[in-house]
Amino acid sequence: MDNKEKILIIDDEFAPRESLRMVLKDKYIVFTAPGAQEGFNFMAQTPVDLVVLDIMMPVISGIEALQEIKSRHPDIEVVLLTAYASLETARSAVRFGASDYLTKPFDKDEVIKVIEKGLEKKRAKENLKLEREKLWGKTRYLEEQINAARQNLIMSYEGTVKALLLTIDAKDHYTFNHSEHVARLSSAIAGALDIPKDVRDKLEQAALMHDIGKIGVDEVILRKDGALTQEEFDEIKKHPVIGATIVQQVPFLDYAVPVILYHHERFDGKGYPKGIKGEEIPLTARIVMIADAIDSMMRARPYRNALAMEKVLRELRDYAGIQFDPLIVDLILKGKISLE
Ligand SMILES: [Fe+2]
Repeated sequence: MDNKEKILIIDDEFAPRESLRMVLKDKYIVFTAPGAQEGFNFMAQTPVDLVVLDIMMPVISGIEALQEIKSRHPDIEVVLLTAYASLETARSAVRFGASDYLTKPFDKDEVIKVIEKGLEKKRAKENLKLEREKLWGKTRYLEEQINAARQNLIMSYEGTVKALLLTIDAKDHYTFNHSEHVARLSSAIAGALDIPKDVRDKLEQAALMHDIGKIGVDEVILRKDGALTQEEFDEIKKHPVIGATIVQQVPFLDYAVPVILYHHERFDGKGYPKGIKGEEIPLTARIVMIADAIDSMMRARPYRNALAMEKVLRELRDYAGIQFDPLIVDLILKGKISLE
């Protein structure tokens, strides 16, 4: 009983309403209403699957009722009921959303056929809806999986960066501390250059790792007090290439490679390892080069005292366009970047 589909017949005339009910009552649960308003009221209380709607009714016409039903219950199928004379109207009503029409007087088999076709359409729509919901469920599940994977990736990324940084720290504490300052200063310079936030964040990470290649340099040379011999300096000069080679192995750190490789290139082309100059040097590397130099000048090294701010600024001005990107020096001299 419960599995039977529900049909509502709306017709102002008793005879066709009743004869239709008799035809349908064995196969479906059938309700009747003598007018459109009564039909609306009924449907507000009881959900039905299909409505058989008379097209010629007083007060509210069948076409108006059809539009009302479709707007309130888009999932309900409507079969129009019409006298032969208004067949054209019924045809056009199909365009308003009716699934089919029946002509009076009805043929019993035709009635069952049309109603069953209408219900079939409704079942198909419901199945589609169900499939769509299932698909949505699957999509949501996949999205959650992707988010979890992404979260894992971010954590392993952060873990990798941290592990690399701790490796430098273990070898040369000066370098680690220095790298943090260089990263902060690089980010400030990038901010003054209006570099977008996401690029700035990556630049900051890259700056943290700029001296990672010192892992491959003898710590006796790294920690040496006093001036370096030419051979020792040649050893130190290998660290950009060593660092780039290490970081190149990690696909999601590839953005850091240019910074690491070129942070000792000079604006006049007399730097190392490649000797490229001016704008051939990636902007990120030019930024880190100047931040690196500023932080080195501002702190005491084993072999010399820290320079006063005034002297640092003079060095920057004197070497603008020689060692440093003059545009960045200009921003610093104009006070647009805080060196504190
Ligand atoms: Fe370096």
